[in-house]
Amino acid sequence: MEDVDKVLILDFGAQYAHLIARRIRECRVYSELIPYNTKAEDISKIKPKALILSGGPASVYDKAAPLPDQAIYDLGIPILGICYGLQIIVHQLGGEVVRANKREYGKATLNITDTSDIFKGFKPKAVCWMSHGDRATKLPIGFKSIAHTDNSPYAAIRDKARKIYALQFHPEVSHTPRGKKILRNFLFEVCKCKASWEMPSFIERSIEEIRAKVGSERVLCALSGGIDSSTTAALIHKAVGDQLTCIFVDHGLLRKGEADEVIRTFRDTLGIRLITINASKRFLDRLKGVVDPEEKRKIIGEEFLNVFTEASIKYGPFKWLAQGTLYPDVIESAANQSPASKIKTHHNVGGLPEQIEFKLLEPLRDLYKDEVRRLATLLGLPDRIVKRHPFPGPGLAVRVIGEVTEEKLQVCREASSIVEEELQKHNLYDKVWQAFAVVGDDKAVGVLGDARSYGYIVSVRIVQSSDAMTADWVKLPYRVLERISSRITNEIPGVTWVTYVISSKPPATIEPQ
Ligand code: XMP
Repeated sequence: MEDVDKVLILDFGAQYAHLIARRIRECRVYSELIPYNTKAEDISKIKPKALILSGGPASVYDKAAPLPDQAIYDLGIPILGICYGLQIIVHQLGGEVVRANKREYGKATLNITDTSDIFKGFKPKAVCWMSHGDRATKLPIGFKSIAHTDNSPYAAIRDKARKIYALQFHPEVSHTPRGKKILRNFLFEVCKCKASWEMPSFIERSIEEIRAKVGSERVLCALSGGIDSSTTAALIHKAVGDQLTCIFVDHGLLRKGEADEVIRTFRDTLGIRLITINASKRFLDRLKGVVDPEEKRKIIGEEFLNVFTEASIKYGPFKWLAQGTLYPDVIESAANQSPASKIKTHHNVGGLPEQIEFKLLEPLRDLYKDEVRRLATLLGLPDRIVKRHPFPGPGLAVRVIGEVTEEKLQVCREASSIVEEELQKHNLYDKVWQAFAVVGDDKAVGVLGDARSYGYIVSVRIVQSSDAMTADWVKLPYRVLERISSRITNEIPGVTWVTYVISSKPPATIEPQ
């Protein structure tokens, strides 16, 4: 990433820090999160065009308040502080911040008094989103207020000579409707950034990097058919062709038609060396009699690793293991450096085969999910892969409650396929986060023709979410629900009832297990 302008975000633990980075990338400027206490001399080696001090939950008066290296203000690099970032700037440069007895939270009207730089093109009033406790009461020398709200005389401040700007509100959230324009103005008017972060040039750079790293050695990639591993494989294939081998393990817990589709796309369309291992029997044998959800996950993880390791030895040797690690995963694993980040439990199948020593190749580690989707399309992956809903590594085993039997798997697979088809038909598939069916051991009575039948209850789960951390159940139109329900009972033998899950996350989770 040598030749693109970079903006560094010092992460003080804001829940919105990733959002700031994404907004900046949407302006086609590359941005990265770094630990808040990175030394000024290390920052200057990276030669960023700007520094952003993120918000965060702390107060500058806390004993262990996270503060940046004071020397960052002498680097001559433009700085933008956001929320807690404003308080840090005021505090460190000699102004005054007081603890507020009341939090200011929610929408506020911004009265803009200077439209010469970050508010260029703005009318005197704009809506902004506030969420802070402490506030500045006296500005450091050299600063002036350029916007205020009823509660905050210093809603936006700047020291024009030193190019240090700060906002008490959050320009990165959608509740600040013109927030992106403020960021744009900061990037292009103040910092003179070039909008050079683009996917086509990312592809070119990555290809060069992969070739330089890998040389003539062989690369192994576990392909699941999900967007991350698919994009990783397609990108590496573009760089080193047949030096890449993909292994696709069909554990028998996939969605309808998924295995065929992966084979068709990767082997036939993209021409990638693909080894398919049909291991369904192995997985289902080991899952016999197992009802505990965690036990199922553990078994599937172990078995995946066994199958994958065996294949990597059989078809090897490989020097490199490719993984579809994304930027948020990279930041999460470095989370101990950030004061308030939460670590999400990763529940991916597999992991690294420990018996074999691989060097890791992670070409997507700088990217966010939406960027991966754009990249996937540019690399020629079909919409079916790019737009398909996320699917858990342990597959349908977590959607079949109780013991995983062939019969329940079949019901779950067919019913999920009907749910997906109906959403596609009604143009709803791309608008929801996930949509699937769940089946357990509960049965209910129905009538089939004139006969009484006793069959499975299928639950339909459709949720909306932006990051899977929280999710709402989707208020699907009754006619679509009705259609899904009647198709499931008509088309799948042994199903008598269909229910719709109306629990959001929290307190429920998205998957039933
Ligand atoms: P929950 O059920 O925890 O799911 O609300 C959140 C998101 O994670 C997906 N999920 C998984 N993904 N391996 C995965 O790769 C897993 O074991 C796994 N379990 C859940 C789930 O589909 C949802 O998008």
